[in-house]
Amino acid sequence: MAILTLKNVSYTVDQQQIIPDLNLTVAANDFLTITGPSGCGKSTLLKLIASLATPTSGEIIFAGKNQLDYERPLYRQQVSYCFQQPTLFDQTVRDNLQLPFEIRQQDFDQARVTNYLELVALPANFIDKKITDLSGGERQRVALIRNLIFPPKILLLDEVTAGLDSRSKEIVQDLIRQLTQDKITLIQVTHDSDELKTAANIIHMKQGGIIDETISR
Ligand SMILES: Nc1ncnc2c1ncn2[C@@H]1O[C@H](COP(=O)(O)OP(=O)(O)O)[C@@H](O)[C@H]1O
Ligand SMILES: [Mg+2]
Repeated sequence: MAILTLKNVSYTVDQQQIIPDLNLTVAANDFLTITGPSGCGKSTLLKLIASLATPTSGEIIFAGKNQLDYERPLYRQQVSYCFQQPTLFDQTVRDNLQLPFEIRQQDFDQARVTNYLELVALPANFIDKKITDLSGGERQRVALIRNLIFPPKILLLDEVTAGLDSRSKEIVQDLIRQLTQDKITLIQVTHDSDELKTAANIIHMKQGGIIDETISR
């Protein structure tokens, strides 16, 4: 069953057409990999799916309903976008990992958070670390679990391993592999040759936001 359908989606900004007329169907629990040259519109595509940008024309159907018919915060809880350069805010890791609970008006669950920290090879006491003391790889790992403490239906990964140290990269790749076992739909953008080698469904995008070919292994 399709969890996501893009119908004739275009996106124009400042008279520049970034996505021309894109059709795409993603099945539930699929793991889709998108690759293509820098500037071709991959991040824009993910942001449209994430409702961080609104199509100029066309429709995005998520779980049988038009994206525009969802309340945006609720939609974003289900379709979650991970940035290449993650933004952490406030002072500590705790400040960041409290947010998913706050927006759902739930009490902070230390045990749950500890499990997620473990999942990305961070100790329980990492929660009190100052975000200014974290390495790039640690920031990305914290940002990722912030998106996963309440698992979304669709997780969008925008070059999340690009520029990470090798250990962080391995940890994040392991996490992504584990997620493929869960009931979650994954759409990743990557240039990483190892990630492309193991990818099952690859979409090649070319300049101008055009889907060139889809390869299924
Ligand atoms: N908000 C925006 N305003 C103006 N131009 C944008 C905006 N977002 C993206 N672009 C342009 O759209 C094109 C595609 O960008 P992007 O989706 O980030 O590409 P990719 O992720 O494939 O490198 C680029 O030419 C970029 O400069
Ligand atoms: Mg990009």
